[in-house]
Amino acid sequence: MIYLDCAATSFQKPAAVRYAVSRAMETLSSPGRGGYESAMAAAEVLLDCRLALADLFCVKDPERVVFTSSATHGLNIAIGSLVGPGDRVVISGYEHNAVWRTLRGIGADVRIAASPLFDPDAAVEAFRKLLPGAKAAVCTQVSNVFGYILPVDKIAALCREMGVPLIVDASQGAGTVGLDFDGLGCAFAAMPGHKGLLGPQGTGVLLCRDERVRPLIFGGTGSVSAEAAMPAFLPDRLEPGTHNVPGIAGLLEGVKWLRRKTPAALLAHERELLAAFSDALAGDRRIRQFRAPDPVDQAGVLSVQIGETDCEEAAERLAERGIDVRAGLHCAPLAHETAGTLDRGTVRFSFSPFNTAGEVLTAAEAVEKILG
Ligand code: ALA
Repeated sequence: MIYLDCAATSFQKPAAVRYAVSRAMETLSSPGRGGYESAMAAAEVLLDCRLALADLFCVKDPERVVFTSSATHGLNIAIGSLVGPGDRVVISGYEHNAVWRTLRGIGADVRIAASPLFDPDAAVEAFRKLLPGAKAAVCTQVSNVFGYILPVDKIAALCREMGVPLIVDASQGAGTVGLDFDGLGCAFAAMPGHKGLLGPQGTGVLLCRDERVRPLIFGGTGSVSAEAAMPAFLPDRLEPGTHNVPGIAGLLEGVKWLRRKTPAALLAHERELLAAFSDALAGDRRIRQFRAPDPVDQAGVLSVQIGETDCEEAAERLAERGIDVRAGLHCAPLAHETAGTLDRGTVRFSFSPFNTAGEVLTAAEAVEKILG
């Protein structure tokens, strides 16, 4: 099996992640619920994970690193904290349904700062035009469909200038593309723990600027239990219920692993794989590739269309040859609409630290075989 669907989840994990999950089930109980050894050990793992994430994303106070169950969960908290019915919100043309559906569900007045693929200057201009009067803005750091790295730093600067709180969806960039959260001055950044951070599924992270957050769910936190209201302080305000301790223990090991390797080196590896795969197919004009003219604008995700072959069928044919990819709209119809691929979607190849050059060349051969 050659797994090239890392934008869905990084299926292959460092061995330390698997070991930590299983060990946590033997040794860790519920953090913040007791002073006995297994509860204290669980609390320590949570703190270590918060500290590692705070360091990675330049968040001064680890309490502002909140554990969620997914990026979607975090985005729902972030959007729900800033946006009400009828509020104007500016979003990029590459947002995932985790943003799009959440805003539509609230009844926000959504304005789309649409701009062509791999054109960061146009993205900044599109935001500049629409930001005046906005209650909030949302921008994905990296498109989950095209790997396009949006100019989040410049968009954040515009938002600061205009006093518009910015939510960054860091789902596709976290772990490879850097994010200086405090430096950017954004209100929130949400991400899954199970993609580039290499943790288990069911983990997620929300970075918060301050305590002005609206809980999405309410319940026990092991703190200020006599009060009817949720605690006013982070992370407790947003972390009711028992934590996913085995998941967070695994996430900690994923983050430690990637920090040892360095995000920059992992991104460079994924870009090399993308280039090798793309170059291998470049001679075939029947294959339409969505590759950035300047490699700095793309992370390790490449969408293609294979002749006239239906994308879902192409993915099935690849699966028969042991190549795992995702096809269709990737839960991001807006991104496809912006890029002009909404009618048929794309076949997406996404690369991880565990893929090799040999694997991507085998995958390229399998693509060619679809066309005969
Ligand atoms: N958002 C994830 C993907 O792109 C699940 O596949």
